[in-house]
Amino acid sequence: MTAPHRQAPGRRTAVLRREAVLATVPVAVAALLGAAGPAAAGTHGAAGAGDPYFPLSGNGGYHVEHYDLTLRYDTGSRHLDGKAVLTARATQKLTRFDLDLKGLKVTGVTVDRSAAGFRHSGQELVVTPRHALHKGQEFRVTVTYNGTPKPVTDPDGSQDGWIPTDDGAFVASEPQGAMSWFPANSHPKDKSTYDFTITVPKGRTAVANGVLRGQHTANGRTTFRWHQAEPMAAYLATATVGKFKVEHYTTRDGIEVYNAVDAREARAAAPVLKKLPSVLEWESKLFGPYPFRAAGSIVDHAPDVGFALETESRPVYDSAPGVSTLVHENAHQWFGDSVSVTAWKDIWLNEGFATYAEWLYSEQHGGDSAQKTFDALYGRPASDELWSFPPGDPGSGKNIFGTPVYARGAMALHELRKAVGDRDFFRILRCWAAEHRAGHGTTAQFVRVAEHLSGKDLDGLLHTWIYTQGKPNKS
Ligand code: ARG
Ligand code: ZN
Repeated sequence: MTAPHRQAPGRRTAVLRREAVLATVPVAVAALLGAAGPAAAGTHGAAGAGDPYFPLSGNGGYHVEHYDLTLRYDTGSRHLDGKAVLTARATQKLTRFDLDLKGLKVTGVTVDRSAAGFRHSGQELVVTPRHALHKGQEFRVTVTYNGTPKPVTDPDGSQDGWIPTDDGAFVASEPQGAMSWFPANSHPKDKSTYDFTITVPKGRTAVANGVLRGQHTANGRTTFRWHQAEPMAAYLATATVGKFKVEHYTTRDGIEVYNAVDAREARAAAPVLKKLPSVLEWESKLFGPYPFRAAGSIVDHAPDVGFALETESRPVYDSAPGVSTLVHENAHQWFGDSVSVTAWKDIWLNEGFATYAEWLYSEQHGGDSAQKTFDALYGRPASDELWSFPPGDPGSGKNIFGTPVYARGAMALHELRKAVGDRDFFRILRCWAAEHRAGHGTTAQFVRVAEHLSGKDLDGLLHTWIYTQGKPNKS
């Protein structure tokens, strides 16, 4: 697994440079600078991971190796009781560090079993351990908290995070919602393994990521224990609760499938979910081995949500999905979940790829060819929103789920495929998924993989399709 601090070698130099400056300026100025950004001064972990689209998402100064979340949700009162134990490693000396948590009340924080000081304002939970943590030190943070979780409203007006439903909660946290239900280093730069222990009223099911380790019922409540063994970004964690019909089985490839379906969606979902093993097999042929030991689907009845999410190992759908949505969310398991972005600006590496997977599925299953889909989109006039910004530079968090990211991102891949030919194109996809498996990748790295494998100079073509404003000329 790739540690987040290795992803951004420039950051460390920036920290050093700023520390050098600070040695000569008054303390008040130092405090101001320290609060300003990722290159936090001295021994205070930064309040954000340094992503300009979401400046307070994530934090600096440490990497979370593992989250152990114990949750108890009362579906009637919508009250959540939580305990989060984070095993983390300091990437600098820390006398203070932040976690992201919004709207819930923190009742206690310990660091390595000693009570720690904490201050909670907005989405930042600022923790002051009793003893400073040295660079490289592993430490354990325990946060107890409770309240009524509310979703986060995103710059594009959508809501994500813990979204209550009539029988539980739809939990989908891209891009910012993790902080609505657990204290996190909530930026995809930081990936961690997870354990979940979730208690809900008997008759409800709590579905998280990975494999089900056990479930037991006592005193009118059922506790579900889930384990996500491969690293996961916080936004891909789920703990969706509802009245679900459950099926589980193991595929020919040994993947443990767990499907949870709201009865109101069961009839529409059944024929689509039946295709999951064949979709995963087809995607594995195209993209390389499926990256997780678990798979599945959570099909909720959450009519107000308006999106599905590729929650790791087990996507969550707000209603019965169609086949192309199933293909899309499962393609994300390779592109987005296993290979993660280091900045939200690169979101086309997730959405463009998952959309292109839909085009490929159609092409290979008796539907429109990718070329036909491309041509229909290309026929849109220059004034169409498809051309309103380039997929590799959405400009702000407001645009990260815009049409250009999905559709023009997929068009960029189609242009690449035409330039290098099918054989090299699919080698590029597999190499990308393999080389960055369980880690991260940037647009520049993708271009390098494509050029390296094809032996072609692709900079001009890819630059045009990924970064140029307005409708590109056809090559
Ligand atoms: N990644 C999701 C998808 O595949 C979209 C998530 C949208 N989230 C949001 N807050 N609008 O399509
Ligand atoms: Zn997507």
